Amino acid sequence: MKPREIASGVYWVGAEDFDRRLFDSLIPLPDGTSYNAYLIRGRNSTALLDTVDPSMVDKLKDNLAGVGTVDYVVAHHAEQDHSGSIPWALERYPGAWLVCSAPAKNMLVDHLLVPEERIRVVADGETLALGGKTLRFIYTPWVHWPETMSTYLEEDKVLFSCDWFGSHLATTDVVIEGVECIFEPAKRYYAEIMMPFRRIVRQNLEKIRPLEIRVIAPSHGPVYRDPGSVIRAYLDWTDDQPHNLVVLPWVSMHGSTARMVDRLIGGLAERGVSVQPFNMASADIGKLAMTLVDAATLIVGAPTVHVGPHPAVLYAVTLANALRPKVRFASVVGSYGWAGKMVDLIKTGLPNLKVDFLEPVICRGFPRQEDFNALDRLADGVALKHKELGLL
Ligand code: FEO
Repeated sequence: MKPREIASGVYWVGAEDFDRRLFDSLIPLPDGTSYNAYLIRGRNSTALLDTVDPSMVDKLKDNLAGVGTVDYVVAHHAEQDHSGSIPWALERYPGAWLVCSAPAKNMLVDHLLVPEERIRVVADGETLALGGKTLRFIYTPWVHWPETMSTYLEEDKVLFSCDWFGSHLATTDVVIEGVECIFEPAKRYYAEIMMPFRRIVRQNLEKIRPLEIRVIAPSHGPVYRDPGSVIRAYLDWTDDQPHNLVVLPWVSMHGSTARMVDRLIGGLAERGVSVQPFNMASADIGKLAMTLVDAATLIVGAPTVHVGPHPAVLYAVTLANALRPKVRFASVVGSYGWAGKMVDLIKTGLPNLKVDFLEPVICRGFPRQEDFNALDRLADGVALKHKELGLL
């Protein structure tokens, strides 16, 4: 796609990647993604904000074909989907400075082998005047690497946020109004990338609160002309209070665990508790991550394989532990054939979650009436905990 002017003298010059389906060999990209780079033309100088994934450097070359001079290449983040074409940009514009935060300097040298002498480190709050366009650099650490930085364009009130507020979405609609059409990709992105740093994201939200922001221009997905809506969504996602929701990753081998999960879902629903189950044999882990953003309770449903939980469920446990959601309660339901340490292994797989463990329900073979009664008591317990938190 050709460059788009998103504000006076400010151009999107990035690349839409409609076909990419996996990020970091881990994160599903059902809607592709984009690598947003921006060109800001001042009266005296020109700045390029970020670049694109190296696989798409030709798109960046096309979009900069008519740009004779770039004086500054701003690197908000050293991860290669944004920084990977910086070596090309520095070669194309031999007089350009590479501008970055102090923690980013060594990372850019280590990851991209760029020459140190081309790097100009800027301090938190430092400004750079391009002539009628003033860039204010704002350190916004851990969204989602330690070196991440944002830029505020003072005259046009545009916040270039790099990864945070982003969404993995390839679209020809480079600029959008509102957040409704982008809510799911933006939440999915937050869940997968930002949630482990929820409290620091919250601090960064406080840091930008004094700014008048008319536009948020992230480095993935569309530019927001109504930034208040995505900021409000981030305030909800990073809030300590969960929702009245149970997330239930489960898998079954011969039907016993499936029957237990079915009874538990019904019992919770009857008590007014929302449940989102994920059969890990086919689950979209992005949707699982999104559900973990809001859930108050995590219940794992697993059969026993040898002595431990089914590996597909352990994947969900590992994911939940890594993403550090704000869940308050957890439990385990499942079955075994002759013996097992399933519950202990699931519990020890969740050290990052500060949760109150509710009594697990484990049966031998197919569940009997006493097992169904125990599942109903677990549903009672979850409903009570949610009530005590004011969620129900
Ligand atoms: Fe989009 Fe953390 O890179």
